[in-house]
Amino acid sequence: MQQVQPDIHPVLRQRWSPRSFDRWVDLPDDVLNALLEAARWAPSAGNSQPWSFVLARRGDDLHRRIVKHLAPSAGAWAPDAGALIVNLCHRYVEGTDWEYSEFSVYDLGQAVAHLSVQATAMGLAVRQFRAFDKQALTAELEVPDHWEVLTIAAVGASLAGRGPLRDRRSVDDLRWPPAAKG
Ligand SMILES: Cc1cc2nc3c(=O)[nH]c(=O)nc-3n(C[C@H](O)[C@H](O)[C@H](O)COP(=O)(O)O)c2cc1C
Repeated sequence: MQQVQPDIHPVLRQRWSPRSFDRWVDLPDDVLNALLEAARWAPSAGNSQPWSFVLARRGDDLHRRIVKHLAPSAGAWAPDAGALIVNLCHRYVEGTDWEYSEFSVYDLGQAVAHLSVQATAMGLAVRQFRAFDKQALTAELEVPDHWEVLTIAAVGASLAGRGPLRDRRSVDDLRWPPAAKG
């Protein structure tokens, strides 16, 4: 098991992606609003803010409509989370095949990272996932052609402590150019 080094911010050190959530913990409106507020302040190319989020709380009708389209792998744990947040990206200018922004996918990722860090700071956990039927969910949510469903974030109270199977490349390995292998 790799230890997270102590010299990064505690919230970044604590963040991890559980696969078991406490189904008795609900997320009130102010919590969900704080998550979107964090996403809102993410940087984006030209301040294009090419993101949108479908918020579904466990137990509501929207949540049931999303859960139907999860792959069995995610369906085993994600429905227990207090909320599922479907992450949408503004890909094209409406009615054209022109990119809305060449960085829209990149920018959505940053917004979801902000949201995840905010959730961690509030004692919650997030696991992002792509294990769902994208085409069916796009149709279910009536997402227009110029927007794209990219991922879902399950947000809630984790039932487990940080798992042992987290693996990361070393800091040296992140540096470009790669060190010559001897
Ligand atoms: C774009 C994206 C897609 C992911 N898809 C899945 C998925 O389909 N199923 C899953 O269990 N985890 C998924 N994950 C979670 C990653 O596996 C997890 O973040 C990674 O193993 C690192 O673990 P950590 O977040 O605890 O540091 C996804 C994460 C990202 C960012």
